[in-house]
Amino acid sequence: MPRIDLSGRVALVTGASRGIGLAIAQRLAAAGASVAVNARAIDDGILEAFGKDEAQRISVLPGDVGAPEAAGQMTRAIFTHHKRLDILVNNAGIMRPAPIGMISDDEIDRTLAINLAGAIRLIQSAARLMARTGGSIVNLSSIVGLKGATGQLAYAASKAGIVGATLAAAKELAPKGIRVNAVAPGFIETGLTAALSAEVRHEALGSIGLARAGTVEDVADAVLFLASDLSRYVTGQVLGVDGGMVL
Ligand SMILES: NC(=O)c1ccc[n+]([C@@H]2O[C@H](COP(=O)([O-])OP(=O)(O)OC[C@H]3O[C@@H](n4cnc5c(N)ncnc54)[C@H](OP(=O)(O)O)[C@@H]3O)[C@@H](O)[C@H]2O)c1
Repeated sequence: MPRIDLSGRVALVTGASRGIGLAIAQRLAAAGASVAVNARAIDDGILEAFGKDEAQRISVLPGDVGAPEAAGQMTRAIFTHHKRLDILVNNAGIMRPAPIGMISDDEIDRTLAINLAGAIRLIQSAARLMARTGGSIVNLSSIVGLKGATGQLAYAASKAGIVGATLAAAKELAPKGIRVNAVAPGFIETGLTAALSAEVRHEALGSIGLARAGTVEDVADAVLFLASDLSRYVTGQVLGVDGGMVL
């Protein structure tokens, strides 16, 4: 049985202060990677979420991925420190459910800027760094980006955009040894889904074949697989992590 060993690899995980992103950073660090963790509100306090050995391999990169300059700033900092980047996980995301007629211009712009444009810019910046060594990029889409959902017009569009970006980048970057895949979680218990109404939560849970909400670890394990050499022949795929949810 092959063991996942990411010793010597360098990873960047956006939106890693809590929820799915933090679980992904913990999994990658536990497998031996050095991990740069990003979020808007993040500081050295996050090191307490990691074991003692792992915390020594964590660097903290605060920043808003929706800001055009963020991707370049983060990848430059990683190059200065590590001289390489092997794994990028585009996880940072926001979801503000609202009926179609109630979504403000600002919400549309922010959702697309953070969830989609931020990820695209990071793919650009990371690809430059990975060009010498190869690498793995994993983007967080959503079942909502594949199937749609009421109250999620801009969010669903951003997550469908992530699928297109993943497929395009996978084709263009394969000759450089850079694999690009996406995961599409279903209903995962985090702060993001805590914002949903009781009615929407009840309906969502009733549509899951495995009859439970997903955990952050359920998603992090799928990302760990896609980040590692166990998936060395896998690129341009969208892996559902949804417990058989039907939307
Ligand atoms: N939970 C689910 O059921 C579910 C399902 C499908 C897909 N997803 C996707 O999975 C990803 C993680 O979701 P989650 O449930 O873990 O969400 P969460 O608990 O709300 O965590 C979101 C993370 O992203 C960070 N973030 C938000 N805006 C940011 C920005 N502009 N720049 C940098 N970091 C930012 C947050 O920290 P700050 O606020 O401090 O910046 C936080 O660390 C998202 O892309 C989401 O769309 C989640």
